[in-house]
Amino acid sequence: MKIITVTNFKGGSGKTTTSAYLAHAFAAKGRSVVVVDADPQGSALRWSEQGEWSIPTLALPVKDLHKRLVGIVSASTGIVVIDTPPLEDQAGIVSSALRIADVAIVSMAPTMGEYERLPEVWAAIDNVEPLRATPLVAAVLMNRTVTNANSTPMFRELMTEEGHTVLSTTIPRREPIAQAFGGPVTELGKYAAAADEIETLGAGR
Ligand SMILES: Nc1ncnc2c1ncn2[C@@H]1O[C@H](COP(=O)(O)OP(=O)(O)O)[C@@H](O)[C@H]1O
Ligand SMILES: [Mg+2]
Repeated sequence: MKIITVTNFKGGSGKTTTSAYLAHAFAAKGRSVVVVDADPQGSALRWSEQGEWSIPTLALPVKDLHKRLVGIVSASTGIVVIDTPPLEDQAGIVSSALRIADVAIVSMAPTMGEYERLPEVWAAIDNVEPLRATPLVAAVLMNRTVTNANSTPMFRELMTEEGHTVLSTTIPRREPIAQAFGGPVTELGKYAAAADEIETLGAGR
């Protein structure tokens, strides 16, 4: 089983969208996937219900997710995708979701507004390290990128120079993705490549 926690400091950084699409991309690869909605707002849960997803989705917006999850998700599950609330609002829940994760995916748009809040995400990851058996593998997945804009390589370089892993796959800004909430997730686009890349990160359990 590999547990993937999708996180960021702020709301509106694409966490729920990324969680939804990655879950479907892993399912399309034949993995047995469960989505855990750890955001009390319940967006992923509502999306799954309205969109009639075939992927099991449950809400677990609690600070002791790291204790509960293994007992709740069946051992035959291949991939668990945890959608989280903004770290700025629910640090306890996010810490728990980082503690149990094998991989943290930081979803962010390549803008200064999102970039300048990343140190708080790296700090939250550092803070759970003593509570973990193995180091957490973390990678940035840039989304809402604009084709040929120099913001994408610029922020990639900044984050890479700081020693962070940035997935080579980026998710472009697309109208169907913007309008996807509440429907079935069918067109995976670049999320298929992102899922391939994420599967090569970290060991899993
Ligand atoms: N690749 C994309 N292209 C266009 N719009 C996107 C894309 N990714 C996310 N969005 C939009 O950005 C907004 C915030 O995304 P959301 O996943 O709800 O963020 P969060 O869960 O971090 O609050 C939503 O309106 C969503 O539709
Ligand atoms: Mg969300």
